[in-house]
Amino acid sequence: MEKYKWWQKAVFYQIYPHSFADGNGDGISDFPGMTAKLDYLQDLGIDGIWLSPHYPSPFYDCGYDVSDYTDVSPEYGTLADFKHFLDEAHQRNIRVILDMVLNHTSDQHQWFRESRSSRDNPKRDWYIWRDGKGEQGSLDGLPNNWDSTFGGSAWEYDSATGQYYYHFFFKEQPDLNWRNPEVIQAMWDAVRFWLDMGVDGFRLDAVSTVYEHPDLPDHPGQSMIELQQAYINAKTREEFDQQEKAWQALFQYQIDLPEVHNLMKDLRQLVDQYEDRVLVGETDDLRFYGSGDDELHLIFNFPLMQSDGPLTPTWIRDNQKSRLASLPPQAWPCNTLGNHDNSRVFSRFGEGSVELGLPEPHTNDASRARLSLALMLTLLGTPFLYNGEEIGMTDYYLNDPALFRDNTSTYAYPLLINLAGKSPEEALKMAAMFGRDKCRTPMQWSNAPNGGFCPADVTPWLPVNPNYAKGINVADQEKDPGSLLNFYKRMLRARRSTPALITGDYTPLHEKAENYLAFLRIAPQEGQKCLVVLNYSDQELEISFNLPAKQARLIFSSHTRRSQVESLNPLNLQPYEVFIMELT
Ligand code: GLC
Ligand code: CA
Repeated sequence: MEKYKWWQKAVFYQIYPHSFADGNGDGISDFPGMTAKLDYLQDLGIDGIWLSPHYPSPFYDCGYDVSDYTDVSPEYGTLADFKHFLDEAHQRNIRVILDMVLNHTSDQHQWFRESRSSRDNPKRDWYIWRDGKGEQGSLDGLPNNWDSTFGGSAWEYDSATGQYYYHFFFKEQPDLNWRNPEVIQAMWDAVRFWLDMGVDGFRLDAVSTVYEHPDLPDHPGQSMIELQQAYINAKTREEFDQQEKAWQALFQYQIDLPEVHNLMKDLRQLVDQYEDRVLVGETDDLRFYGSGDDELHLIFNFPLMQSDGPLTPTWIRDNQKSRLASLPPQAWPCNTLGNHDNSRVFSRFGEGSVELGLPEPHTNDASRARLSLALMLTLLGTPFLYNGEEIGMTDYYLNDPALFRDNTSTYAYPLLINLAGKSPEEALKMAAMFGRDKCRTPMQWSNAPNGGFCPADVTPWLPVNPNYAKGINVADQEKDPGSLLNFYKRMLRARRSTPALITGDYTPLHEKAENYLAFLRIAPQEGQKCLVVLNYSDQELEISFNLPAKQARLIFSSHTRRSQVESLNPLNLQPYEVFIMELT
């Protein structure tokens, strides 16, 4: 185990800073609140925190629009509060990585204010400014036909100086010009600021969008509006696949330009001047591993979570097969099933989609949530969990457009009515579903008003999911030995004390089995061999393993097992059982 880095052994937990723990009772989470919950996290058994952006921000994209890279947003507290949080986390052997938004700043960042102030401002070239082609402000006057991924043109006309600036995301998030060495310098200064303070690394936001084609060629395909229309109407797998290709064509000159890899090598060298820090890329593109140890340390295995419905053994095996085979030597995998941009694990990998309003979980959702955690903690690679997942928080669809905080929903709602011809009710549901507020609601700490997140007479920044009153809260689950929370704790402990689950090679078994997943994790240096079996069916199973070991020692089961030693010929499994053994 010694030869492995901390981030290879760690389990990460993502904190969404607006929603985790409200210390001063204003309806928004903050560092004093988060610091007070570090004991909870230590007891849960995680090793690292990924903190979504905590920088000053007008919050147009919920913090992913940074207006100062070297400070703390006042609602979270002060820089000293952050430092205290960091120190207290370190005291508990919990590392902290920050979210670094490289591609763009907020339009309220001082750099952009200066840049837009005049054509000859020294910071003009820090962003991407271009003349229009034709008449100013007219659609064919745009520099080219590129779209913003959040909808509409990627170009915004600025009348003060009569030019357009480029934004891949919202127009409130102008792209930095990474071809300007001063930008690189300024951003690396920000990176050093936090590393000097002692943070353990960064999750790199939207890393594939950093560069765009310097000649700004028009893309040849359909426009985004056409694609969105097709998306809303798409039904078959073929239609969705076709869509996928069309979207790639749409952004071909705006993402994944090869230049980004030199930049990442640069950043890696910078980070390597510090001891033991880590870089995690928000991308699934394996090229960001570089040769395996000269770009990013970790790249998310997003394809695993992109299944159409509940995860199946076949889907998981196929994912692992292709993913592990294509990793460069020395590269370390990284798995996740949920984050602040996606449906919650409990909803997404349950048996059906959650209904509007108060979601009624399906019978086996809780069992499936256990399987999802077991998968994260037993596959080869560093797992990332998302706050609230451990108590089975579900997606919550806001029932009033005035409550939307995610501007992708605010933006989609009128378009769905006016362009797609949906009724206001349908549009509301669709905007709530496509948007990301659903998975960002406040953490549910207890069965008290507002889920114990903030005082009863305070309106939290997003409504608390009312299912806090139905047992989906920390306090109730702490008391219940059979709760999902206690399952998380037990499994995290089992992983921590089983080296083969952390460093062992992954070898799939029974590769045709459709209702269960079985694999070995073998760590020769540790002299340990584990068999993991996850029953994805609601049936009892009897499975024969033709392994040299005839017996196995119980390491973990989601169910009650009478004996510490189990026969493998055959092995009996309960419905949805998570079963881990050490082969002796
Ligand atoms: C990433 C973030 C997302 C944000 C976007 C723009 O995808 O995860 O929340 O909206 O980048 O910064
Ligand atoms: Ca607060």
